[in-house]
Amino acid sequence: MSNTIQVKDKRFAVSISEAEIRAEVKRVADEINRDYAGQNPIFLAVLNGSFIFAADLLREVTLPCEISFVRLASYQGVSTTGEIREIMGLSTDITGRPVIIVEDIVDTGLTMAHMLETLKPHNPSSIDICTLLLKPGKLQVDLDVRYCCKQIPDDFVVGYGLDYDGFGRNTKDIYTLI
Ligand code: XMP
Ligand code: MG
Repeated sequence: MSNTIQVKDKRFAVSISEAEIRAEVKRVADEINRDYAGQNPIFLAVLNGSFIFAADLLREVTLPCEISFVRLASYQGVSTTGEIREIMGLSTDITGRPVIIVEDIVDTGLTMAHMLETLKPHNPSSIDICTLLLKPGKLQVDLDVRYCCKQIPDDFVVGYGLDYDGFGRNTKDIYTLI
């Protein structure tokens, strides 16, 4: 394992090891197994960043469950907050179902806040957010993040699914910009 990597024009140093990620993912999956005992949740994994996290998390979930992959597509619209993002690929009916959103990283929280608002009209029985990473220093909205593997400082990270300009997703550790 190299301690630093180059992704395009930037250099990154290891900040969360593969072993630590594995332990935190297991801890969060155990919390979900306990909290959702007797239920059949549907996981909504947000592409692209959460694909590795979702794969590892699901293998630690022992509940009868489903997973669906969604994408948040930006489109031009009239909004006071600027960018509007629409959920693409929500093919499963979530009406009356407990939904667990699987996200790679919560930064300002605006993406997750908007996704919650978009899912509510589908009338799921509950919605929880499960994120790999959270930057508490950057949160701009009052967001209830029930499951979080690790809180990190306000630095840019790549690896384990997270990218810099499309590259850097294919590492086992997580790296921070140096
Ligand atoms: P908000 O601010 O809406 O944004 O919570 C969440 C989305 O921003 C991206 N993001 C990152 N991606 N390394 C990344 O690879 C980072 O450090 C980072 N911070 C935010 C990410 O797409 C996330 O879904
Ligand atoms: Mg993302």
